[in-house]
Amino acid sequence: MTLRPVRPADRDRVLEITRDVWEGRDYLPEVFDAWVADPGSAFQAAEVEGEVVGVQRLRPIAPGIALYEGLRVAATHRRRGIARSMLRQAVEQARSLGLRQVRLYTGNEVAGRLFASEGFRPVTVCAVWSAGRMEGDDLPRLAGPGEAAALASRLRQEPSMAGSFEAYRGVNPDWNAVLDVDATLLERLAGEGRVRLGPGGRALALLRAEPRSRLAATFVAGSGAGLQELMAGLRFEADGRGLRGVAALVPERHPGIEDLRQVGYDLADDEGRAYVYALDL
Ligand SMILES: CC(C)(COP(=O)(O)OP(=O)(O)OC[C@H]1O[C@@H](n2cnc3c(N)ncnc32)[C@H](O)[C@@H]1OP(=O)(O)O)[C@@H](O)C(=O)NCCC(=O)NCCS
Repeated sequence: MTLRPVRPADRDRVLEITRDVWEGRDYLPEVFDAWVADPGSAFQAAEVEGEVVGVQRLRPIAPGIALYEGLRVAATHRRRGIARSMLRQAVEQARSLGLRQVRLYTGNEVAGRLFASEGFRPVTVCAVWSAGRMEGDDLPRLAGPGEAAALASRLRQEPSMAGSFEAYRGVNPDWNAVLDVDATLLERLAGEGRVRLGPGGRALALLRAEPRSRLAATFVAGSGAGLQELMAGLRFEADGRGLRGVAALVPERHPGIEDLRQVGYDLADDEGRAYVYALDL
């Protein structure tokens, strides 16, 4: 198996490889052109006897940190150690670039076994909690970028928020970039209109960019009445924006699980889980 950069001409083959992934709903076909054109990351194809049998990408997301993403091996070539060998080469590359950590997000528990056996540590595992849209006026407040520093310190210090922060291990499990939830991230997301607050700023939700059918919260902090008000507010917001409802990624040990239930959220067991792993180099 050899690795080389993915080229625009590989498009059809890569689409073929991803056809059976996530029941045909793989995001890779949508991002293929942007990934090929991105000079800042390594989008690589694995070749066996001149044929592309897999792809992967290593992308810097923060100083010293890269995200490993887009690992796919053709169904015809699985269980032959190809993914393992691709991953090892990506990790070597990250090391040679002087990076200090590789992170990844996956919805595939089986792939998690591969990462764990290559030394990645599980950072957080989140389930999907979902609720339908609901009519209501009490919309959650949007945080402004100027509030980021205060929110970041409250997340670490205020007992009602610190428990949730710890359950996420301090990272935002967004598949697009698993970043530390710090003042820098909060400032950027607030600038993009993606931070929602509960009463008194004692509950917080980070939203995914461009919701498809549901409002998606990747990180939810707080507990008690404040969290309940915020999560109910997200259902109202979904209604106002013509979305089907809300889906929130929540770790098992989150202190606000009972509050989510109180305001109509259910554990969507059939939607799988989100696993975040990290490897310190
Ligand atoms: C996950 C995937 C990349 C694995 O590719 P692969 O080349 O078959 O993987 P490998 O042969 O290198 O196997 C590596 C390890 O993964 C685990 N694994 C892979 N497929 C497995 C399966 N079907 N059942 C159980 N374990 C499996 C095993 O731990 C395996 O190690 P082992 O063979 O020593 O037991 C491939 O199945 C795939 O493309 N799936 C769809 C896309 C996807 O889920 N990508 C991961 C998202 S990050």
